[in-house]
Amino acid sequence: MELAMRKALITGGTGFVAKHLSENLINKGYQVIGTTRTCCPDLYFMDNYELRTINYGDVNDWINLFNETVPDEIYHLAGQSSVRLSWDNKVDTFNANLINTINMLEAIKESEIRHKARILITGSSEEYGHVNEGEAISESTILQPLNPYGVSKAALCMLMKQYVKTYGLHIRYARPFNHIGPGQGLGFVTSDFAKQIVDIEKEKQPPYIKVGNLESKRDFTDVRDIVEAYHILVQCGIDGEVYNVCTGRAMSMQYLLDFFVQHCKHPEPIKVIRDELKMRPSDYPIYYGDNGKINELGWHPKIGLEQSLSDILDYWRSRA
Ligand code: GDD
Repeated sequence: MELAMRKALITGGTGFVAKHLSENLINKGYQVIGTTRTCCPDLYFMDNYELRTINYGDVNDWINLFNETVPDEIYHLAGQSSVRLSWDNKVDTFNANLINTINMLEAIKESEIRHKARILITGSSEEYGHVNEGEAISESTILQPLNPYGVSKAALCMLMKQYVKTYGLHIRYARPFNHIGPGQGLGFVTSDFAKQIVDIEKEKQPPYIKVGNLESKRDFTDVRDIVEAYHILVQCGIDGEVYNVCTGRAMSMQYLLDFFVQHCKHPEPIKVIRDELKMRPSDYPIYYGDNGKINELGWHPKIGLEQSLSDILDYWRSRA
């Protein structure tokens, strides 16, 4: 007798992380259903993959989706993921990250998958906000977010715990630190740097690169390791628990810039220009996590930073 394929539903299905997660799960033998608000022109077609449009603000739309597709696992990646944009679009950030998730959880509670589906909700290291400088951040570090994005995710985490305790939903919560990799959009540091380097190589931009704060240090994990962590959390995580997803190492933006500049194929030296528009109202100097809790479930990052940076550069070269 043939075993039924496991079904995974990924919200925010056309996003950077979702594309990597879809590929990862399909390779593991899953059937994957992605969701999106509007049908997109760059739809990618893969075997065992389906993309559905949904109004994230409509509980009935969610209920219909769950009852029709009956997923075994739900990876909730839909949301507003830019810290910088959250300063300008506070209400949109809260709608996308918090209100839409309430709609989704209410729908799960009312649908036939309530008792069986395992759910992953993704938060962010931005929830920790103000921390003691230089200390590795663990899951028990107090949450003191410093921007609207971080506040929206911290509220999401508290809400998640209530749905586990009050309604018995099977939710695990990932708190990823910075993730990078091929396919990430502009507005995040490695894509912003790499795209400019490739534009310089193609002579679409004079040999100067505009940058923001180069002194900050962050804990970068490759997206392909991140999605593996999400799968492990859904299989072996504990309901209501929070798990940092990170490498435990901080790297400076200057280091990333130096890597890209050294790998630029343009013959002239690259001038670095500090762009005030890229500076943040608040930006902490150093941030890295303690990944001991998720290590105990068997997850360890495998892709080194230089490999990620090199793949990001190749991604932008292939698009140019
Ligand atoms: N985006 C960007 N562009 N950031 C720059 C630039 C630039 O040209 N130059 C310097 N930076 C600095 C920022 O000031 C910040 O200190 C650091 O690079 C990282 O910025 P981002 O890549 O935009 O990431 P983030 O830390 O603000 O947020 C990311 O990580 C969070 C987890 O810690 C996002 O992926 C969030 O969604 C995620 O939750």
